[in-house]
Amino acid sequence: MSHSTPASAAGRFTFPGSDLSVNRMGFGAMQLAGPHVFGEPKDPEECRAVLKEALALGIDHIDTSDFYGPYVTNRLIAETLHPYAENLVLVSKIGGWRDDQGGWNMNHAPDFLRKSVEDNLLRLKIDQVPIVNLRMGSVAGFSEDAALLEPMRTMRQLQEEGLIGHIGLSTVTQAQIQIAQDIAPVVCVQNHYNLVHRDDDAMIDSLAEQGIAYVPYFPLGGFAPYQSQALDEVAAELGASAQQVALAWLLQRSPNMLVIPGTSKRAHLKDNIDAAALTLGEDQLKRLNAIASMA
Ligand SMILES: NC(=O)c1ccc[n+]([C@@H]2O[C@H](COP(=O)([O-])OP(=O)(O)OC[C@H]3O[C@@H](n4cnc5c(N)ncnc54)[C@H](OP(=O)(O)O)[C@@H]3O)[C@@H](O)[C@H]2O)c1
Repeated sequence: MSHSTPASAAGRFTFPGSDLSVNRMGFGAMQLAGPHVFGEPKDPEECRAVLKEALALGIDHIDTSDFYGPYVTNRLIAETLHPYAENLVLVSKIGGWRDDQGGWNMNHAPDFLRKSVEDNLLRLKIDQVPIVNLRMGSVAGFSEDAALLEPMRTMRQLQEEGLIGHIGLSTVTQAQIQIAQDIAPVVCVQNHYNLVHRDDDAMIDSLAEQGIAYVPYFPLGGFAPYQSQALDEVAAELGASAQQVALAWLLQRSPNMLVIPGTSKRAHLKDNIDAAALTLGEDQLKRLNAIASMA
C-alpha cells in the first residue's frame, strides 16, 4: 500500500446534536508520554513530528488527557499544534489522577472534576474543551451504576458554563450510559474494545442506533498487542500489517466506530492511517470475527 492515504478515506462522523464532524480515523495521544505513560517521552522531537504528520495526513480528532505524563501529552499538543486548525477536535478525559509512582487513581468529586477541566483548558490553551469524557472505571465503587450520578451532574454544570462543549463517557456500562443520558446528552463512549475484547458488541449497536460515537481504546490491543494466526493470515492476503487489518475491522464493524490508534512513531502513524482505505472481504471478516470466540 502507498503511504499517502488520507484519514478522510475512513469516512466522516458527526457527533449527535453538535456541529463537530471528524474523520473516523483519528489519533490517540497516550503513546506520546514516557514509558508506561509516565514522564517525558524518550524522543520528544519524534512525538512532535508525529503530531504534525497526523494533521498533514488529515487527522482532525485527537484523544488526549492530563492523565498522560501526567500533563505531558496536553503540553506537547499545545506546543506543537497551537494555534489549532479550525477543524481540529480535541477530546480529553477527566476523573482520575497519577501519583508520584505513576499509579492510576480515580476521583469524581465535583471540585476535582472542575479543576481537571480548568487544567485541560490551561495546558491546551483553549477556552472550551470540545468534548470531555467522564472516565468512570472498572475498579470497585466506580463501576456501580449510581457512582455516575453526581459526577454527571457536575459535567452538565461545566457544559452549561461553557467550559465543556459536549460530554462523553469512558469505561462505563450500558446502565450507566442510560443514567447519564437522563442528566445530559452523551455524544461518545470510550471503552475497551478490539478484535479480541468484544464485551461491548450490544452496546455498540445500541449507540449506533442513537447516532452516538463508540471510540474503542486499545484498538490494537494496547499494552498487550494480540497474537493471532487468523489476523496474520488475513494481513498476508491483503499485503497489509496486522495493525491495519485490526483497524479496518473496527471501521467496518459499525458506522459509529471512530478509531484512535496510539503511536509515538511516524512510520506506525502512516501504517495505521493506511487502514482507512483497506476493505475486508466477507470471508476475511468471518475469520476475524471468530478470533474473539477463540480468545
Ligand atoms: N479512556 C481510557 O481509559 C483510555 C485508556 C487507554 C487508552 N485510551 C486512548 O486510546 C488510545 C489508543 O489506545 P492505546 O494507544 O493505549 O493502544 P493501541 O492503540 O491499541 O496500541 C498502541 C500500541 O501499539 C503500538 N503501535 C501503534 N501502531 C502500530 C503499528 N502500526 N505497528 C506496530 N505497532 C504499533 C504502539 O507503539 P509505538 O508507539 O511503538 O507505535 C503502542 O505500543 C490512546 O492513545 C488513548 O488516547 C483511553
